[in-house]
Amino acid sequence: MQYFWIFVFSYLIGSIPNGLIIGKLMRGVDVRQFGSKNIGATNVYRVLGPWPAFWVLLTDLAKGVAGVYLGQYFAGTPLAMLVGGIAAIAGHNWSVFLKFKGGRGVATGLGVIAVIVPKITLIVFIVWALIVYFTRYVSLASIVAAALVPLLMWGFGVQKEFLYFGIVAVLFVIVRHKPNIERLLKGEELKIKAGSSKIN
Ligand code: G3P
Repeated sequence: MQYFWIFVFSYLIGSIPNGLIIGKLMRGVDVRQFGSKNIGATNVYRVLGPWPAFWVLLTDLAKGVAGVYLGQYFAGTPLAMLVGGIAAIAGHNWSVFLKFKGGRGVATGLGVIAVIVPKITLIVFIVWALIVYFTRYVSLASIVAAALVPLLMWGFGVQKEFLYFGIVAVLFVIVRHKPNIERLLKGEELKIKAGSSKIN
């Protein structure tokens, strides 16, 4: 029963659409109408620039952190922490407040792994930043970085619950990046540049 409530509360926290709320509060803009139409920090950066994107990144990360700590606080087992983490990512990706639409789960997933495997998070973040720097494709960087998570977990010999989480998280990231993968294959993916998507 504890696990059920951890899932429900973490899912509700994950469902909070920070990109939408911050875009509306700071600039009066619904980011779902512009750029990639995603509510994540990348699209907020593309449409509204660095400051709104910074706050979206921070608050989306915080949802993943909150999910893990909810699990730790209420049950205190590694499995409960992962149930909280996965539920937060699921809420972000399939938000109850957005008719089960949502983001890609990268920042929220990063929040989860920052708590459970900080060393791996640092490596993954460096790889992500290098790919973004050299290609300007955030989606490509996110997919590669997410795929690295379970591989590094396996390499570092972390406990198996964490490894299972890494596999589920990478599947979530791939599923949610389907439009990006299609655009990448067609050579039509949007590159990252502040304010590059026009607001009419
Ligand atoms: O974290 C999201 C990123 O990987 C892609 O964002 O807006 O280009 O679809 P976007």
